[in-house]
Amino acid sequence: MPDVPPHAPSKINLKDYQRPSFDVETVHLNIKLFEDYAQVNSTLKMVRQTTGDIILFGESLELLSIIMNDKALTSEHYQQEDGKLTIYEAPDEVILDIQVRICPQTNTALEGLYMAGSGDDTMFVTQCEPEGFRKITFYPDRPDVLAIFTTRLEADKRYPTLLANGNLVEAGEVADAPERHYAIWQDPTNKPSYLFACVIADLDVLTDSYTTSEGRDVLLEVYAKSADIDKCDVGMQALKDAMKWDEVNYGRAYDLDRYMIVAVSQFNMGAMENKGLNIFNTACVLSSPETTTDARSFSVKAIIAHEYFHNWTGNRITCRDWFQLCLKEGFTVYRDQSFSADQQSSAVQRIDDVATLRAHQFAEDAGPLAHPVRPESFVEINNFYTTTVYEKGAEIVRMIANTLGPDDFRKGTDEYFRRYDGQAVTVEDFLSALSITDDKIEDFIDWYRQPGTPVVSGSQTYDSAAQTLTITLNQQTRHVKGFDAPKPLPIPVATTLFDKDSGAIVAERMLLLDEATQTFVFENVASEPVVSLLRDFSAPVQLNYDYQDADLAFLLKHEINGFNRWQVTQMLVNRILLQSQGAKSSPDVYLEALAQTLPVLAADDAMLAARLLDIPSAQELASAIPQDYDPVLVKEQRDGLYQQVADKLKDQWATLYNDLPMQSYEDSAQARGIRALRNVVLDMALTANVEGAADWAQQQYDHASCMTERFGALKAMVNHQLPKANDYLTDFYKRFQANDLVIDLWFSVQAAADDVTPDVIKSLIAHTDFDWNTPNRVRSVIGAFSSQPTVLWTAEGLKMYTDVIKKLDDANPVLASRLLQVLARWNTLAEPRRQMAHEQLTDLRKNVASKHVLESLESV
Ligand code: ARG
Ligand code: ZN
Repeated sequence: MPDVPPHAPSKINLKDYQRPSFDVETVHLNIKLFEDYAQVNSTLKMVRQTTGDIILFGESLELLSIIMNDKALTSEHYQQEDGKLTIYEAPDEVILDIQVRICPQTNTALEGLYMAGSGDDTMFVTQCEPEGFRKITFYPDRPDVLAIFTTRLEADKRYPTLLANGNLVEAGEVADAPERHYAIWQDPTNKPSYLFACVIADLDVLTDSYTTSEGRDVLLEVYAKSADIDKCDVGMQALKDAMKWDEVNYGRAYDLDRYMIVAVSQFNMGAMENKGLNIFNTACVLSSPETTTDARSFSVKAIIAHEYFHNWTGNRITCRDWFQLCLKEGFTVYRDQSFSADQQSSAVQRIDDVATLRAHQFAEDAGPLAHPVRPESFVEINNFYTTTVYEKGAEIVRMIANTLGPDDFRKGTDEYFRRYDGQAVTVEDFLSALSITDDKIEDFIDWYRQPGTPVVSGSQTYDSAAQTLTITLNQQTRHVKGFDAPKPLPIPVATTLFDKDSGAIVAERMLLLDEATQTFVFENVASEPVVSLLRDFSAPVQLNYDYQDADLAFLLKHEINGFNRWQVTQMLVNRILLQSQGAKSSPDVYLEALAQTLPVLAADDAMLAARLLDIPSAQELASAIPQDYDPVLVKEQRDGLYQQVADKLKDQWATLYNDLPMQSYEDSAQARGIRALRNVVLDMALTANVEGAADWAQQQYDHASCMTERFGALKAMVNHQLPKANDYLTDFYKRFQANDLVIDLWFSVQAAADDVTPDVIKSLIAHTDFDWNTPNRVRSVIGAFSSQPTVLWTAEGLKMYTDVIKKLDDANPVLASRLLQVLARWNTLAEPRRQMAHEQLTDLRKNVASKHVLESLESV
């Protein structure tokens, strides 16, 4: 048993949920920003709902006064403890006037109201989800308290941009202070405090408009610093596409007259869906062909859509408590994935979503930080913005949607919006609305409650006399410590049978595996078919089917489902690389199948062809190794297979590369596919030492039409340690010195390089452009570095990594804790690394104080 440190933070449990004693009807906020502090006055109209005291939350606030119903309260009327302010014996209707002082200028945690940027680019923004509002003023800061907000902002005129949620109702000069001005915003919608936002800045704005299906004219605005305003149109277009998409696919129209997006360079997460005033990490909104890779640009569009979709799934219907986070995030991720699938090849979209799920969520579910999609307890809710809540949460909604089919799913979502609009609800409410046409949907609740990735194993028998194929499937989920013994879950397994001779489809069925073991019989099957399972990844499970390698090669050739073609390559690769886990396949079948498929597919669907060459990252492979993980061995095996692929097709890379000529930039699926494949082919050619490939890289860099081409070439040069790599790194830096997001790429390509050493990381941290206060920059070095396990899991690598966590623990615990999660799998390492990691993490635990980081270290 780990010894519990004396300052062990306390847990909050779902089962202890209680409704608030008081509701808030209206809030008037008056935020006055001064040189080195801000004064926040709030007036709350509160009404009793049930018995109990008034409980307000507040952190890092200097309380100046509280007045209740015109009477100043003194310390005998209330108690202040652990971030909670309890007011005793309050009457049933209360007007509270609260005055506090805060210091946004020194707020490095980037929660609440904080200062971002520097010099002329200084700005003030908020991040309130999940519990940041309590850093602005005392408030019943919980998602089931909804109120109407009016916000007055006052600041020096050198910050001309004053924004808050809703509609601008008044603006002007401050009497007696000609250098100051103010603006008053009113939000007509009832909202929880986590959706509050305001911005005090000097920004340029790109404007556009959209007329909703209900005939509302909406003003659309994207705010960014003037140097970035030319990179806002991709996001603006995505916003309009998303608005339209939600009307067509869910019947949901926008409900305010104004929709604002603000880009900020210092932000802990990707973006935030504050009502009518989204705040975005610059990395998730700015995009231009010259500065942004295709992959990034695509994710900009997806994140814009994600935050927009929250307006219905999150804002109009919100979460009763933070345990229900997946209610809004899982559904909204499912919605943004569906939106993205309509913008490109749906197979590639599914491949990318599943690759992310397998690389990160499966790893989380296999490690000590495994938790249910709806957790039952937490110390710090910020630690639960995880890939399990988001991505596995989305997979559950997808299974439900596929089980119902499009028409009944739409009936269910319509019912959800009809029933719960304006309320703060639970996962049970969601399932109950979705089950109006099929009450079996309620059974999906166990997917929300049970951690661990189910393993579905299976085999088939063919009876030629009876002409039947019998498929036997069973499911097993590991028993995660601290949870009930796992139960069988409803697992939809999309199954297709292929005729072995002709490759034609013989049968197609959705099998529902909802017991531990089940058999499924297919009648009238004339000869033993090849079975393609889990098409489009119909459930978030690991599949072990007793395939012959030849069956998989057959499917790579004959499957018409692009996702499953990719899936069989991944199964083959796993069988080759996870030999230590009992897998045994020789690479021959895989290499031969690739050699046959690739040249044809390259001309046909370049993007899919690029994905077929995927080999899971070292971290992803590691997550399939429950114990004695040796990073060096895994890397050797992985690199070895990569080399074999490169060598196998050595004679073809030149032709492939030349058949993908560089053209002037175009943002079409086809052009993106060509660019993606060209970068993969370039790297393969360098790996195989193809004559002249180093020149291709330089040419590609020199003549690049966009960042995808330029950065692809640079990365290849760096990873293959080409003699000119340093010159090109210097050129890249000089060219893009003024653009932080591109300089992040410059840092990350070095920090993630194959030959990176702790010294390289130290010198990057010492670089004048490194900045501890900018999470994007920290991640571009520290996050990128963690993709090299052979360096990370050394005494020196770990020391550096844990020193970073120590350094960030106080300044920005959200960031520190997120970075730390990479180390969660320490206990699967082979000795002596395991012992070494344990020592360093134990030492770390003694040197940190934030409950964020302490909770992430609970299993040490
Ligand atoms: N709700 C945001 C989104 O997913 C994420 C905000 C999370 N912020 C945080 N500090 N954990 O769109
Ligand atoms: Zn979200």
